[in-house]
Amino acid sequence: MPIDVVVLTGSLRKASYSRRLAHALIGLAPPQIQAEVVEIGELAFYNQDLETESPPAAWTAFRDRLRRADAVLFVTPEYNRSMSAVLKNAVDVGSRPIGKSIWSGKPAAVVSSSPGAIGGFAANHHLRQSLAALGVPTMPMEAYLGGIDKLFEAEQTLVPKTQEFATKIMQSFARWIERNAP
Ligand code: FNR
Repeated sequence: MPIDVVVLTGSLRKASYSRRLAHALIGLAPPQIQAEVVEIGELAFYNQDLETESPPAAWTAFRDRLRRADAVLFVTPEYNRSMSAVLKNAVDVGSRPIGKSIWSGKPAAVVSSSPGAIGGFAANHHLRQSLAALGVPTMPMEAYLGGIDKLFEAEQTLVPKTQEFATKIMQSFARWIERNAP
């Protein structure tokens, strides 16, 4: 059985480095991983008033897809030393209604990037803080890619040295998922 991994990226712009990195990581994953990017831009801002018997269709579709997934890979940019609002919103939408969080026990990994030198370190760790609160076993491997604007040799192809690191991330993630499967 392939391992079903949902990949969430925290940037909506077309030329996003995070999105390109997400696709590069998917391409470098070991064969047992079957990964796909799930879009989060259409999720309405979390509002408890909408948590009725018929919540927004996009919330339900997102929750259903994530519930089916074996694991989640977060590929986050850094906005003002945190994750982007769109990514936090996806985390929040998945966490409710109370008692029905799709996150609990779901293995995850966090990869951050930035054109800056720190590689989205602060976003990476803010996200980890939320994931800890949600009971997500998050792979401890550190993955901060600084200077991301210089790390692609083609649209979704990383330069060899980064490709090597990205391959290690995905191999470690596959082992992490196997060890932490609910
Ligand atoms: C940024 N950027 C940024 N970079 C960083 O290293 N630390 C930061 O705190 C911030 N803050 C920030 C806030 C906002 C609102 C924007 C739009 C951008 C720059 C950011 O890393 C850069 O724009 C990336 O290219 C964004 O990721 P994507 O869209 O390429 O995936």
